[in-house]
Amino acid sequence: MAFTLTNEFKAKADKLRAGYPRPDAALIPLLQELQKDRGFMAEEAMDALAAYLGLPYARVKAVVTFYTMFNRAPVGKYHLQVCRNISCHMAGAPGLLARLREKLAIEEGETTKDGLFTLSSVECLGACGAAPVMQVNEDYFEKLDEKKLDDLLEDMRHGRLRGMAR
Ligand code: FES
Repeated sequence: MAFTLTNEFKAKADKLRAGYPRPDAALIPLLQELQKDRGFMAEEAMDALAAYLGLPYARVKAVVTFYTMFNRAPVGKYHLQVCRNISCHMAGAPGLLARLREKLAIEEGETTKDGLFTLSSVECLGACGAAPVMQVNEDYFEKLDEKKLDDLLEDMRHGRLRGMAR
């Protein structure tokens, strides 16, 4: 499917690029910006960005596949990313993941039928001191326990987390 970068995106991209010494230095913030529009990074979007920046497609794809913050497929309205690294693991992440699997009736990598939630486990989110941590879209929720997790799910189900939903 053809993909065209919007003029609005190009204007933002040009502004961002101006702040970096080389086009590839702006790659991560540009990919984040691009992902905001559709919630995931399609092959054709990576291709269009590579062409716009004058970079090899392989360079863009390597960045997208390296970082878990880039979604390779469409995700739900709320993308729940539970950190699975050591600090979070020790602080209870496996229990949180199990609870999410049970309450949402999905496995990691899946999206609920209503399109509301996608569940993932990810590498360190860089907030180890506040383990266990879950990222929901762009926001972090720290020092989670089962009660906080349940409350958070209810808030998302009832649209009470303003500004977070895609
Ligand atoms: S180990 Fe979970 S945020 Fe670092």
